[in-house]
Amino acid sequence: MAFPLLSAAARRLEGKVAIITGGASGIGEYTAKLFSKHGAKVVIADIQDDLGQTICKELGPSATFVHCDVSNEAHVKDVVDYTMAQYGKLDIMHNNAGVAGSPIPNITDTTLPDFEKIIKVNLIGPFLGTKHAARVMIPARQGSIITTSSTSSIIGGGAPYAYTSSKHGVVGLMKNAAVELGNYGIRVNCVAPYLTSTPLARSFLNMKDEEFSQFYSNIKGERCKVEDIANVALFLASDDSKYVSGHNLVVDGGFTIMNPGFCMYEYTK
Ligand SMILES: NC(=O)c1ccc[n+]([C@@H]2O[C@H](COP(=O)([O-])OP(=O)(O)OC[C@H]3O[C@@H](n4cnc5c(N)ncnc54)[C@H](O)[C@@H]3O)[C@@H](O)[C@H]2O)c1
Repeated sequence: MAFPLLSAAARRLEGKVAIITGGASGIGEYTAKLFSKHGAKVVIADIQDDLGQTICKELGPSATFVHCDVSNEAHVKDVVDYTMAQYGKLDIMHNNAGVAGSPIPNITDTTLPDFEKIIKVNLIGPFLGTKHAARVMIPARQGSIITTSSTSSIIGGGAPYAYTSSKHGVVGLMKNAAVELGNYGIRVNCVAPYLTSTPLARSFLNMKDEEFSQFYSNIKGERCKVEDIANVALFLASDDSKYVSGHNLVVDGGFTIMNPGFCMYEYTK
């Protein structure tokens, strides 16, 4: 997909510097391209080196790739230090990397190592990202920290135990950080996507892209796409949201407000 640059007036992240974890694929990849189109310098932090480097090549000098396992504190510290050395500041930290794990629905079959593996990436990752971003944003007295949560941060039963727990957990992390870091002019929010066709979701559900049309929500005929989530991340990253902090901004076409078991309206695809 082509991402031509916008005119200076239309660019909403002109002069800003962003780190996007999990930026080599899916939602993060689209967000990296969108942020770059809007004038940001983007550092893609991921464990998929080849994919990350290919995207950076496509985006040109405004993007760089750093190998980073978000569950490893030394890696997260290094990517923040690299960004500071390269650009002298960090305006946007997007904790987006995540894993779904195996589709095991029942608690009795959920093993401790499986549970810990998901928590390490999906909850400890954003903790480390928030911590090290705060370390450099506090002296600058500004910044926007965004974590990708999920509709599984609000409802139960939509994903395995570890995933649901990790996504509820990042909302708590975000709220605490929003309260503390607001004192330094730093905004902290989450973006909460509904089911979206990405490598993560396709592999978890063992489904092809075209099969995702069955996952409708409340907006007739619309399924959730990576661009819908990236556009909300762009809003949270930009000064358009300068008075928005402490939110878990749901991008689900109304999915989490519906209850098909008790609904006075016709419930159709
Ligand atoms: N796709 C969906 O339906 C959906 C719905 C709700 C929330 N989310 C969340 O969106 C985020 C992005 O997922 P996606 O669907 O784009 O999946 P994806 O698999 O396409 O992208 C996830 C990226 O995270 C990277 N990653 C995984 N473990 C990592 C680690 N330890 N360190 C650094 N990078 C790591 C992967 O290499 C990959 O590039 C995740 O947090 C996911 O939980 C996705």
